[in-house]
Amino acid sequence: MSLPQIDKSTIDIQPFNWRGVTRRFMNPGELEVLLALAGSVQPLGVVEFGVNEGRTAKAILDAFPGIRTYQGIDVLPGYVTTKSVQRGEVPQRPGYLARRDKRFDLVLRANGSLDLGVGDLLACDVAFIDGDHGRVAVEHDTALARQIVRPGGIIIWHDYHDLGTVDVREVLDEFHAAGADIVHVADTWLAFERIPFQSVAA
Ligand SMILES: C[S@@+](CC[C@H](N)C(=O)[O-])C[C@H]1O[C@@H](n2cnc3c(N)ncnc32)[C@H](O)[C@@H]1O
Repeated sequence: MSLPQIDKSTIDIQPFNWRGVTRRFMNPGELEVLLALAGSVQPLGVVEFGVNEGRTAKAILDAFPGIRTYQGIDVLPGYVTTKSVQRGEVPQRPGYLARRDKRFDLVLRANGSLDLGVGDLLACDVAFIDGDHGRVAVEHDTALARQIVRPGGIIIWHDYHDLGTVDVREVLDEFHAAGADIVHVADTWLAFERIPFQSVAA
């Protein structure tokens, strides 16, 4: 069962100044959608699984001065991604583009997020899951995100597509079939889940 879709027109998308910014890893319009989704929760804390060189981290930090903490997770050289399509992605300069921002904390481990537990990460309002796109990591990162994202926050995944090269779509479709309220933004590879505020028992 595929995820339900929403149209980009329902999201408060703002123009982004791409001057001097690499477009690597993002299809046209996706960074703008990601920024709008992140902004919708007025984030104080962000965790990015798969921060790469920090292009997206810098864009989010620049867009939201209210952010206090941004943890960007990546792997050490030598890590072999589960999916062959990702093997050229391990960065030479992890977090490089965001390193000057004092709010940015680079979290590097041999196996990236797979070496992390909930005690290694701060509570946050946005978790952006864009690391290893194999099933084990997507399930692991989602489980971690669901423990650290505060009520009212949002989990956003990249690489929800049907090219068959990664497992994101299959895993998210399974979560949805099991009852998770995950939505796909049409014409993008982005999907998201809002973490509800605690409901008050009647
Ligand atoms: C598609 S790139 C991320 C792009 C980045 N999020 C951005 O928007 O610019 C995928 C990143 O995930 C990293 N990665 C792969 N396996 C990982 C793991 N197990 N934990 C954390 N990061 C991982 C890769 O090294 C790579 O930097």
